[in-house]
Amino acid sequence: MASITLDNVRKSYGALEVVHGLSLDIAEGEFTVLVGPSGCGKSTLLRMIAGLEDITDGTVRVGDTVVNDLPPRKRDIAMVFQSYALYPHKSVRKNMAFSLEMAGAPKTEIAEKVARAAEILDLTPLLDRKPAALSGGQRQRVAMGRAIVRSPKLFLFDEPLSNLDAKLRVQMRAEIKELHQRLRTTTVYVTHDQVEAMTMADRIVVMNAGNIEQIGAPMELYDDPQSRFVAEFIGSPAMNILDGTFHPGGRFVLPDGGEIALGGAAPAVDSPRKAGLGVRPENLSHEPGGIVLGTARVRVVEPMGSETLMTVTVGGRSLLVLDRTRRPVAVGDALPVHAAPGDLFFFDGKTDRRI
Ligand SMILES: Nc1ncnc2c1ncn2[C@@H]1O[C@H](COP(=O)(O)OP(=O)(O)O)[C@@H](O)[C@H]1O
Ligand SMILES: [Mg+2]
Repeated sequence: MASITLDNVRKSYGALEVVHGLSLDIAEGEFTVLVGPSGCGKSTLLRMIAGLEDITDGTVRVGDTVVNDLPPRKRDIAMVFQSYALYPHKSVRKNMAFSLEMAGAPKTEIAEKVARAAEILDLTPLLDRKPAALSGGQRQRVAMGRAIVRSPKLFLFDEPLSNLDAKLRVQMRAEIKELHQRLRTTTVYVTHDQVEAMTMADRIVVMNAGNIEQIGAPMELYDDPQSRFVAEFIGSPAMNILDGTFHPGGRFVLPDGGEIALGGAAPAVDSPRKAGLGVRPENLSHEPGGIVLGTARVRVVEPMGSETLMTVTVGGRSLLVLDRTRRPVAVGDALPVHAAPGDLFFFDGKTDRRI
């Protein structure tokens, strides 16, 4: 096990810089998730940690060792990708044993490590099968087995669940988390899926266009997003944000002239200030109380069992409402929408930073 320290790490492809001087400390044993939209630089950063990609500038340390110029095989890192790349003609046992055999480990040690990994991953009954005779989830477990037999200092995962169907993804998510709780190996896990990030991470690093937007524990990012980007990225369904202008006296004026009376809940302004007003779908309520956002016309009703998702229109703007009261609602209904003052988020109209 080891810590990872990134210090002002940059990556350019030709003249184009895609990672802009990132610094990040990952503690020994921590499960860190890098999350962000496609193309924001997650894989590039992970591949620089692995040594599969040169670092244009800055320093990467594993433990106390600068690894900038160390080839991948000397970094004691195991990486699991989206495509499992198993050897199709080798059995599960041989697939898992391969890297140890290449390293010249003694036969008894290999057998022991493979047996232990197979037990941890529930692969023991499948050890003599070929990959073609396995399900997607089982293949992904073999790929992880291949990684853990080497007892690496670090595990790196790059979107390992993206090829699996939704149900299996949920199951494998829990398995990877359990594996980490058991082995406590320092892990960096890349995904574009904020639900994976929220459910698996000790700490989430939200990336945006080659920069770090915010770092925090999952619930910290959910409760206290520092920018509009993080607010909209973390949480599902996404936070509603109304664009408008703060006016003195706690008035929030929408583009169509509609107004929301925020009173003391609004930031004080001397002159009009453009801003976004955010509220999560689960914090909107039809029950009276708090701030009145307006009267909503119900456009779409999506029952999901424990909750019902509604798309409503307020003052020409679409909002999502997540209702857990099981109140009967029909398309076309006009309902008031309210929010508690403490559930409102304000973002600067120019910088998109939290106010
Ligand atoms: N080998 C490469 N050559 C040129 N540009 C690349 C290369 N690899 C990645 N990029 C660019 O770098 C940016 C970050 O890519 P990547 O790290 O793969 O993003 P992510 O994994 O977050 O989707 C993207 O704009 C991508 O097009
Ligand atoms: Mg990627």
